[in-house]
Amino acid sequence: MEVKKVAALGAGLMGHGIAQVAAQVAKYEVGLREVKQEFLNKGMEMIKYSLERFLKKGVVSEMEMKETLSRIHPTLDLEEAVAEADLIIEAVPENAQLKKSVLAEVDKLAKEEAIITSNTSSISITELASTLHRPEKFCGMHFFNPPQLMRLVEIIRGAKTSDETVNTIVDVAKKMGKETVVVKKDSPGFVVNRILVPALNEALYLLWEGIADRDDIDKAIQLGLNWPMGPLKLLDYTGLDTTLSIAELLQKELDPKYRPCPLLRQMVRAGLLGRKTGKGFYDWTEK
Ligand code: 3HC
Repeated sequence: MEVKKVAALGAGLMGHGIAQVAAQVAKYEVGLREVKQEFLNKGMEMIKYSLERFLKKGVVSEMEMKETLSRIHPTLDLEEAVAEADLIIEAVPENAQLKKSVLAEVDKLAKEEAIITSNTSSISITELASTLHRPEKFCGMHFFNPPQLMRLVEIIRGAKTSDETVNTIVDVAKKMGKETVVVKKDSPGFVVNRILVPALNEALYLLWEGIADRDDIDKAIQLGLNWPMGPLKLLDYTGLDTTLSIAELLQKELDPKYRPCPLLRQMVRAGLLGRKTGKGFYDWTEK
């Protein structure tokens, strides 16, 4: 099946970047849907900001920037975003109930042949697919933050996902300029977060147990393992709430050894979620 029109649902940290890559690199027409005008405006501002950075570096020209923006159609109307779309990428907040209700609505409004995907980082693909009458046309399409720069997309099969759906999404991700890996079985954390989240949790324990200070933990991993940013900064960058929900899931569904560090829980309770709330381990209000 040929994908020409895409709908991105959610214009937050991930959704805006996914919409941008779809319009900028794959040159798809993209319906970008949010639930509030304020969120839509914020998403479009982030897209413009990112395109300006690419413009400054010569990655895109003025013309390409304009064309990319003209291919993105912001809307508050779910039907308008999905009715004509060949592919719907759901990137609403990481809450199973919310995602299920959005997906069930999308299933009713989208074309019969349309493929539906979710950018979930932790919720079972098979569970999300259970809300649809087309589970064979559904899979996980997991981007990494920031989607404009990170090269990978994990493609996750649910129990009923068809080969055709997986093949189409591999092609779409490649058209968006991404490398792909196929996760053959729907399993908590998929591949990347199954490895990353326990590593981030150990960084939290090092701080919690007073074994090293924030800056030294980040410096050790940044310089010792050549990560682009240290683990505590990365926690801030992706959002502490996101990591907590993945750690809880790994603990519940795979093994008690994945128990989230009490410090993570405490910081989430205090609203210190990192970049998205302005403060976490670092102060992000100036950036
Ligand atoms: N759009 C366009 N360009 C951008 C950008 C954006 N949104 N964000 C950053 N850039 C560019 C900058 O222009 C700059 O370009 P230059 O070096 O050519 O001048 C370059 O990226 C570096 O930017 P900064 O100086 O602002 O450096 P930062 O450290 O703040 O950010 C980074 C750069 C790409 C985020 C880098 O630090 C990095 O790769 N960090 C690790 C990210 C990572 O691990 N992501 C995966 C998280 S896990 C996940 O997402 C899964 C989920 O399920 C939890």
